[in-house]
Amino acid sequence: MARIIAGVSSSHVPAIGAAIDNKQTEEPYWKRVFAGFEKSKEWMAQAKPDVVILIYNDHASAFSVEMVPTFALGCAAEFPPADEGWGPRPVPVVKGHPQLAAHIAQSVILDEFDITVVNKMEVDHGLTVPMNLLFGSPKEWPCPVIPVAVNVVLYPPPTGHRCFMLGRAIRKAVESYPEDLRVVVFGTGGMSHQISGPRAGLINSKFDKAFLDNLTKDPKKLTRIQHLEYMREAGAEGIEMVMWLVMRGALEDKVDEVYRFYTVPASNTAVGHIILEPHRRAAKKAAGKAKKPAGKMKRAAARAKVDRISS
Ligand SMILES: [Fe+2]
Repeated sequence: MARIIAGVSSSHVPAIGAAIDNKQTEEPYWKRVFAGFEKSKEWMAQAKPDVVILIYNDHASAFSVEMVPTFALGCAAEFPPADEGWGPRPVPVVKGHPQLAAHIAQSVILDEFDITVVNKMEVDHGLTVPMNLLFGSPKEWPCPVIPVAVNVVLYPPPTGHRCFMLGRAIRKAVESYPEDLRVVVFGTGGMSHQISGPRAGLINSKFDKAFLDNLTKDPKKLTRIQHLEYMREAGAEGIEMVMWLVMRGALEDKVDEVYRFYTVPASNTAVGHIILEPHRRAAKKAAGKAKKPAGKMKRAAARAKVDRISS
């Protein structure tokens, strides 16, 4: 049986991708940002997922305003990087997992979650930047990725509650897949930011940090945040945070927060990042035996001590 071993959320600021592509990661401004993901890459190297399900939004790269699906599931064998105006990013082609994706499509649609099936799609920075942050810059991505695009660019986006319930439906789908796959779910976007208008540059660290706290402890409280509250408190593009709730819905109610990073700014955006694992006691019970924690990050989780970096 496939199972979800962790949830990861991260901002997907396009300027981070540009900093990687233009070899600026060692410059002081960017070093601060990338330093916050060093432990995450160590964690990911130990986690070694078989598949990533990556929740992100397309920024008019694959879907123009002529046709914007609320939820779109990438079922193709591969997803080339999109040309966002400067040529495609020099990152590997994303390999999909058509079998698991088709299974998810069948499961969630028959579960009355009418997701759009996409058999051809290019992927933009919303997907490729978090991949870089968690996997670095390899020649090939180390595992298949199933993209799930959520509309947060054209009103109305889905509610946070609907996103959370999509996560629940995805978990049910994954857990009914017969092959023994270890799956990590990414939620991307955010945190607070507004890229145009009189409030351009808005960053609300208090709102962001409370969101991170509740993502771990009380996600159902977050599902009650209305669109206008996101816009008022976190800026027009802060609505991207509903995508983090898909990731959170895919996890159990109780989770262990094993890592958190928050920094301001990157470009004109607050960068937030969190790694959540199923609550250890529940995971042990499910496995029927206690496993020895492996590596520094797992030991940290065992001590229930969250590693947090903020700058
Ligand atoms: Fe975005």
